[in-house]
Amino acid sequence: KSYNVAVVGATGAVGEDMIKTLEDFNFPVKKLLPLASERSIGKSVTFKGGEIPVEILNEKSFEDIDIALFSAGGSVSAKFAPIAAQSGAVVIDNTSYFRMDKDVPLVVPEVNPDDIALYKNKGIIANPNCSTIQMVVALKPIYDRYGIKRVVVSTYQATSGAGRRAMEELIDETKAFFEFKYDSYKPNIFPKKIAFNCLPHIDVFLENDYTKEEIKMVNETKKIFHDDTIKVTATCVRVPVLRGHSESVNVETKKPFDISEVKEAIKNAAGCVLMDDPKSLIYPTPIEISGRGETFVGRIRRDESVENGLNLWVVADNLLKGAAYNAVQIAQILIEKYL
Ligand code: A2P
Repeated sequence: KSYNVAVVGATGAVGEDMIKTLEDFNFPVKKLLPLASERSIGKSVTFKGGEIPVEILNEKSFEDIDIALFSAGGSVSAKFAPIAAQSGAVVIDNTSYFRMDKDVPLVVPEVNPDDIALYKNKGIIANPNCSTIQMVVALKPIYDRYGIKRVVVSTYQATSGAGRRAMEELIDETKAFFEFKYDSYKPNIFPKKIAFNCLPHIDVFLENDYTKEEIKMVNETKKIFHDDTIKVTATCVRVPVLRGHSESVNVETKKPFDISEVKEAIKNAAGCVLMDDPKSLIYPTPIEISGRGETFVGRIRRDESVENGLNLWVVADNLLKGAAYNAVQIAQILIEKYL
């Protein structure tokens, strides 16, 4: 059996990788429908060696669509995801709009694949926040063996998380630096200069002085593990990297652990790659793991400052595991088990 698949936001950084990931998975696509705004009139996407013209998203776009992958921003999902579901498509939504809706499953296939069954509620499955996805993939083997009391995470997030124009801004600003025009460069996408800088500011600030990105990590982790007792606190930082999010993750487990057993558990965990041999310079960096769908873990060591403390360095490709790859993994399970 094969399926008609729409990609909403097909010209964006994530949309482009969704199409590429469908190809890489050899996903059974009968028809691919790339959708974007009127800004993309005349553009096309490449799929399996052919060119497919981009169509403008409208209320009738989903009439013969089986699966719709959305990554065109929260307001587009808010309006069009229910329309797509109403037309009979199953929506896999990469935006934050439906993630905390109790009738919408929030899925990381390595952690809570069975939640996909809840797509029947609204016809919508939410893809979690990019930083949350890679953290929970790394935490899953630790959670299963030792339980988790508390997590303190600091992120080092790539510009591509803010879209294609954000990546371009980093490049343009870097060029401006070498042309001695850095001081007068006015950023458009980021709130301050991102080249040669870091910004502790992703998404908007909330009443409690956390950013929305930080609170997403707190709430989504609990929802994915079905465990409100996990304490999470986050500081999310944008760094001048194009692709690949890194995280320093400090964990307090419930039960005592043996560090070599932790490494073995991470090595054997679904979707995890252990890269931990610092003396041979083996630890993951964004550049090295770019283009891969797994989550890479290194610098594993005991935190001696608390009982049962553990430090991890977790890196993944934010456009792939953090977005497109996770979405297509969900789609794959959906067709294998449910459609
Ligand atoms: P377009 O290129 O036509 O603006 P990114 O996250 O890289 O910025 O990409 C966002 C994606 O979402 C793009 O494909 C963009 O299309 C699409 N998009 C943004 N706003 C809309 C909209 N109102 N209707 C349809 N697609 C949209």
